[in-house]
Amino acid sequence: MADRKVAIVTGAAGGMGQSIVARLAADGFAVAAMDINEPALRDLVSTVGNGTVAYSCDQTEEAAVRETVARIERTMGPTHALVNTIGWVGTTRFVQEDSAYWRRIIAINMESILYVTHAVLPGMIERTKGKIVNISSDAGRIGTSGEAVYAAMKAGVIAFGKSIARENARYNINVNAIAPGPTETPLLKAEMEEDPDLVKRMLRLIPFRRPGKPEDMAAAVSFFCSPDSDYITGQTLSVSGGLTML
Ligand SMILES: NC(=O)c1ccc[n+]([C@@H]2O[C@H](COP(=O)([O-])OP(=O)(O)OC[C@H]3O[C@@H](n4cnc5c(N)ncnc54)[C@H](O)[C@@H]3O)[C@@H](O)[C@H]2O)c1
Repeated sequence: MADRKVAIVTGAAGGMGQSIVARLAADGFAVAAMDINEPALRDLVSTVGNGTVAYSCDQTEEAAVRETVARIERTMGPTHALVNTIGWVGTTRFVQEDSAYWRRIIAINMESILYVTHAVLPGMIERTKGKIVNISSDAGRIGTSGEAVYAAMKAGVIAFGKSIARENARYNINVNAIAPGPTETPLLKAEMEEDPDLVKRMLRLIPFRRPGKPEDMAAAVSFFCSPDSDYITGQTLSVSGGLTML
């Protein structure tokens, strides 16, 4: 494993995360798959194989994240790429929500990303090399009803990424974001069950008239983790079938 670059993928056991893990492993990375869902992580690692290692962690806990990153780097080697796929949302109207719900949205979609990024960045700076890819959402660019606080966090992820892209370009570190449109994963399925009309309305607006596939997102992640994107930083790529053209 020592000669392979290490990629940490968070939210690895989710619909998109699994495809990203499989794609990066096929690209030659030794992948550290981080998620809170232990059984799904175990299945993932046995399916993908190829040097992929599971790291179970509640990423809303700062100490757990720091300990997990330290363990990954001790056993697998320095982090070359960090892909923040972790995310969660329900579909409710802002006016009907309570602050416990907002705090959960903020912790999973924003704080978790700060913790893991803060843990890997010093090593990347020291080695003057690194790729960070954040999975944001088109909700963070154009807003979505039913996802107000989530959209705010996804906008925050984009702005956070641009800021650390500026701070760390001098160290040869690239930070980019992907903004998926509606994508066929368990998260979308849960949203469809909660509010079928919301997703139908979104699909009507997609020029390609289909939701994204997790593989579509994995291909974009692969590009941002590869040397082909060495001169690209601070960018947000919508992978949304043309839903948004910003
Ligand atoms: N599916 C879509 O339509 C869509 C659209 C735009 C953006 N996104 C974004 O893409 C990313 C992946 O989404 P997905 O559809 O694969 O979702 P998913 O729900 O299938 O996967 C999310 C993963 O995050 C993990 N997770 C949640 N809380 C955690 C915690 N506290 N600690 C560690 N792991 C935790 C879950 O266990 C899950 O495996 C998310 O950031 C999501 O917001 C999804």
